Amino acid sequence: MCGIIGISSNQPVSSDLINSLSKLEYRGYDSAGLAVFSDGNIIERKTQGKLNNLIQRLKNDPIDGHVGIGHTRWATHGIPSEKNAHPHSSSLVSVVHNGIIENAEEIKKDIKSDYNFLSDTDSEVITALLTQNLNKENDYYKAVSLTVQRLEGSYALAIMFKDLKDTIIGAKKGSPLVVGRGEKGSFVGSDTIALSSVATEVCYLEDGDIVIVDNHNIKIFDQQEKSVNRDYVNFSISQDDTSKGTFNHFMEKEIHEQPRSVGDTLRQFIDYDNSIISNPDLKINWQKVNKVHLIACGTAYYSCMIAKYFFEQQSKVPSECDMASEFRYRDPIISKDTLYVFVSQSGETADTLAALNYCNKHNAETLSIVNVVNSSIARESKHIIYTKAGPEIGVASTKAFTAQVITLLSLSIICGSSKDLISNNQNQIMCKSMLTSPKIIEEAIQRSYALKDAAKELIGSKGVMYLGRGTAFPLALEGALKFKEISYIHAEGYPAGEMKHGPLALIEKGLPVVCIVPSGPLFHKTISNIQEVIARGGKILMITDDSSLQSESENIWKIFRLPDVDPILETLIYTIPIQMLAYYTAVELGNDVDQPRNLAKSVTVE
Ligand code: G6P
Repeated sequence: MCGIIGISSNQPVSSDLINSLSKLEYRGYDSAGLAVFSDGNIIERKTQGKLNNLIQRLKNDPIDGHVGIGHTRWATHGIPSEKNAHPHSSSLVSVVHNGIIENAEEIKKDIKSDYNFLSDTDSEVITALLTQNLNKENDYYKAVSLTVQRLEGSYALAIMFKDLKDTIIGAKKGSPLVVGRGEKGSFVGSDTIALSSVATEVCYLEDGDIVIVDNHNIKIFDQQEKSVNRDYVNFSISQDDTSKGTFNHFMEKEIHEQPRSVGDTLRQFIDYDNSIISNPDLKINWQKVNKVHLIACGTAYYSCMIAKYFFEQQSKVPSECDMASEFRYRDPIISKDTLYVFVSQSGETADTLAALNYCNKHNAETLSIVNVVNSSIARESKHIIYTKAGPEIGVASTKAFTAQVITLLSLSIICGSSKDLISNNQNQIMCKSMLTSPKIIEEAIQRSYALKDAAKELIGSKGVMYLGRGTAFPLALEGALKFKEISYIHAEGYPAGEMKHGPLALIEKGLPVVCIVPSGPLFHKTISNIQEVIARGGKILMITDDSSLQSESENIWKIFRLPDVDPILETLIYTIPIQMLAYYTAVELGNDVDQPRNLAKSVTVE
């Protein structure tokens, strides 16, 4: 979703602004723009579409200066267009905004007689208010402070005033804003990735903060307008983390990183002295946890659905899952002996954050599983575990998902062990098995190259169904989500046993149906469900394992086999072919795999 950057530098900034904007591309956007101080004026360039259009515009019509702001916009109010792209400027001020101003219409009504609005965005009211307040107060900080007091909703802002040279003012509420410093100067940005090529130290602003940065000074004021110090941390994101390396797409690279990311995530749960799964740093009183309530959005929600099976099987704790966007609207009953678990790659998803805030308001015990260090969800939670997936750039989540799955599996084992439902010996056996997961994931990746041919044959399909039972059901949902996100072909995940209650009506000759069927107690039941689909003409791609009893037959289009694994590792391993199938199909279609249409990586609006 929208990304912002502001740079006050001892060098010309245009190329650094573009570089930072390119690092924000992963969040999803449909237009881009920047503004710099040049010869005493603020000059802007904005274009609809991808960043290349802006780069081309700057080639034809260059601008440069030592201070500038930039923006990638994901349309909310007003279509993607040059006029709606940020920055939004008046004769006095230029602004880039990430977030949503909920009372924009009301503000517009109040000031439209004094201000000529040029765009359809909610964000332009910030420019209007700043202009009005600066005229009233003749004090830059005061103008910003008065402006943000009037805003309802969420915002991260980078502001340049025409007569305040060298300086950028930033402000934040509800949307993240990171401040950085480095050799070239001072920076504000939506995330650390945006600052990765310029800053060596960063700090995270709190809601209500206003920051004033110039080339060598950074001053932060809190909501009470008191000057405050926020802790800086040294930071470096390696070039490897933010570049595709030898891969064609970030998604491809991130799929291939999973042996490492799962291994790194798992390591924080291994007690190597005793060869067990444990985490003494996590101060949760598991014995008192009588229920686990898991809340998330998108792919992270499916990891929660899988975790429901883990917690009920490993620790006999009743579990419930909610999509964060629905959770708080049913006035959920918060109970003291329930652990509320929030799962999020970005740690910024607005709905998940709002659900967490609801739980915090009701004094719930909260644990978050987040990939981005110091993100809003991480900071608002009582307990926090970081997945060690590293920066995930592809919009379609892959390595964050498997890192969430291994984390949730580890937690269910820790919970079961604390409740004496899992003996030390059983824990050791599971630990040993889990330690093999990086190697088996690597083998699953190697075998999944074979799915390229199947993917080619999915092109032109009206739709694809994904079926599974047990933990293979949430995997079917994740498979369908991955597939539709990047192929733009309709895909639906369903519990195999439910087909006869409606969706069987969709089956017609040649409709591809991906069936996730590991050997195990549900194998034969799932095969019966698949027979019902075959009888109606469904074209079955069966994902199973080496020792599966199913043999190739005329009625099955393709059988894809994974190595035999311990059942606790099934979801991790079976994730790989469904990711690869979606990836190959999207590549074959020539789609923008890493930034699929209409989608954003970090969804900071409700
Ligand atoms: C967006 C992304 C998905 C992600 C979901 C939740 O929709 O495109 O890939 O699963 O948000 O994001 P989170 O950062 O909370 O995991």
